[in-house]
Amino acid sequence: MGDDWMSNDGVNNGRRRFLVAATSVVGAAGAVGVATPFVGAWFPSARAKAAGAPVKVNISKIELGQQIVVEWRGQPVFVSHRTPEAIALLDDTDSEVADPQSEASNQPEYVDGKTRAIKPELLVVMGVCTHLGCSPLFKPEVASADMGADWKGGYFCPCHGSHYDMSGRVFKGQPAPLNLPVPPYSYESDDIVVIGVDQESA
Ligand code: FES
Repeated sequence: MGDDWMSNDGVNNGRRRFLVAATSVVGAAGAVGVATPFVGAWFPSARAKAAGAPVKVNISKIELGQQIVVEWRGQPVFVSHRTPEAIALLDDTDSEVADPQSEASNQPEYVDGKTRAIKPELLVVMGVCTHLGCSPLFKPEVASADMGADWKGGYFCPCHGSHYDMSGRVFKGQPAPLNLPVPPYSYESDDIVVIGVDQESA
């Protein structure tokens, strides 16, 4: 965004566009069955995206254990279908993370502090590291060769090495100070999640 958001007479065209987009455009994003696809083809128009229009995600096709990445307000959002095992392992990482109940971290109040979700099986977090904004990598495999025998699944930021668990909770002693932010979101139905619309106002 830049000068084009303000016309010569001082009218904020960007704001006007936002209002139009927010009331008339709700984009739809689908999911496909490959690891961490970027589903740009289903996004709303560039104008609507820039304005922050809500994004609908069909979560029914995200296979158990997989994650998709959607874009909202020009930033990646991770939508992860967690397994019961991954949810159970959050108990193990509780004592190892810096903010286990997300008291200092950025998330809506209707989201649980530990599972960081409305429904535990579906995590929705911003894919933006709280250190300097890189996008962490999804590393769901427990004790994987590259993450080590103690790894219980989560996210790894390649820029300066911050580690997060499967709830996006940052481990202690990392460059990143806070958990991955949770955006406002809501369930339109069992299969449709709307990113950018609060649960309470849905
Ligand atoms: S930006 Fe992620 S660790 Fe620095």
